[in-house]
Parts: sequence; structure tokens; C-alpha cells
Amino acid sequence: MKFFVDTADVSDIRALADSGLLDGVTTNPSLIAKSGRKMAEVIAEICALTPGPVSAEVTATDAETMLREGQYLRGIAANVAVKVPLTEAGLKVCRALANDGTKVNVTLCFSAVQALLAAKAGAAFISPFVGRLDDIGQDGMQLIADTVHIYRNYGFATEVLVASVRHPVHVLQAAKLGAHVATMPPATIRALYKHPLTDRGLEAFLADWKKTGQSIL
Ligand code: E4P
Repeated sequence: MKFFVDTADVSDIRALADSGLLDGVTTNPSLIAKSGRKMAEVIAEICALTPGPVSAEVTATDAETMLREGQYLRGIAANVAVKVPLTEAGLKVCRALANDGTKVNVTLCFSAVQALLAAKAGAAFISPFVGRLDDIGQDGMQLIADTVHIYRNYGFATEVLVASVRHPVHVLQAAKLGAHVATMPPATIRALYKHPLTDRGLEAFLADWKKTGQSIL
């Protein structure tokens, strides 16, 4: 399973890239706004930090402008994946960009039939938002199960990129379902390392080791 980080904060991305666990980056207009930086500049910088796909999202809503924005964004670096919304215009642009060999991430997916449309439109990634579905009392993970099932039925190459991930249990469930990727805020990636028994066990080992008076080096 691949791990993408969902942020436009370059210092966070640099630290995670050093961990060797980072397979890509996703951004969205809200995250770019939060960075307070120019989009083209921050995307170029992120693309230089990771060889993996870096999602950069269009902001136009009509197909013609969206296509021009997508062509501009993919010109920033070879590893840009153009992110388009799951709308009629977005899927039209997805098909056009995919036909040109561009990786497209279709975002704001909230139903399995939307996911089916994105695969038919040639998306490299579909981003179902599990946390936002949970927030309104629906079962976000059921959408992942349904999408993985449907894609397997037809052998679609589109990767299921679990988005709006809020905690490690989402990552566990997504991995059990065979989702290809999870994109998470930096704090959620860090939370994956944590277990109180690991901390307690390490503390006890080190205390016992100290009593021996030895050092390995
Ligand atoms: C994914 O690409 C989105 O940027 C992100 O996962 C949305 O997460 P949120 O619902 O926590 O804003």
C-alpha cells in the first residue's frame, strides 16, 4: 500500500521524504491557501522532493478552462498528477488529459458509481473521501469496499486513493480492503508509528541495558 501525504507544507514533506515511507503528495486549493504561497512555486518545490506523483488541483469549473489549467499544471514537473473534481466537466478533462498520457486524480468522490465513471474516464487515481462521509453519518469505508470490488470486477487500472483519512483505523481498514493508496495529513502518518506498549517496552529494555554498564559501540 502506498502512502501519500496530504499537505502543501514543504517542511513537513521534506521530513517525511527522509523517512523513506513517502510515495507521493496530494494538495488541494485549501491546502495551497493554507501554505500562503504561490501555487506553481510550491508545487515545483514539492515535485523536487519526491519522485512520486504530486497532485495539483485545477480550480476552473468549465471544461475548456479546466483543460488549460491542467495542461499548465502538468508542465510544472514530470511527476505532477492533475487533480480534477468529479463533475461532468472534470471527467471530460480527465479523458482528454489521460489520452495525452497525463496522470489524473479525480477528487471529491462520494459514491461508487462516481468512482466507476472516473475509471471509465481513464483516471490514474480516484479519491473517495472517507472522513467527510463519516462526518455526515455515512460509512466512508463502505465506499472504499464497493470501489475496490467494482474495479476488480472489470480490471480497471485506476488506483483507489483513500482520501480524507482522519486516523490510523482508517488506514488499517483501507489496507485490509486492498486500497492502493492512502493520503493522510502528516500527523496521521506520524500516529501510525505509535503504540503505548512500544514506548513502555523500549523504556524497560533501556533501563535494563543501563544496568549492564555496557555499550554496543
Ligand atoms: C485529498 O486529496 C484531499 O485533499 C483530502 O484528503 C481532504 O481531506 P479532508 O476531508 O480532511 O479535508
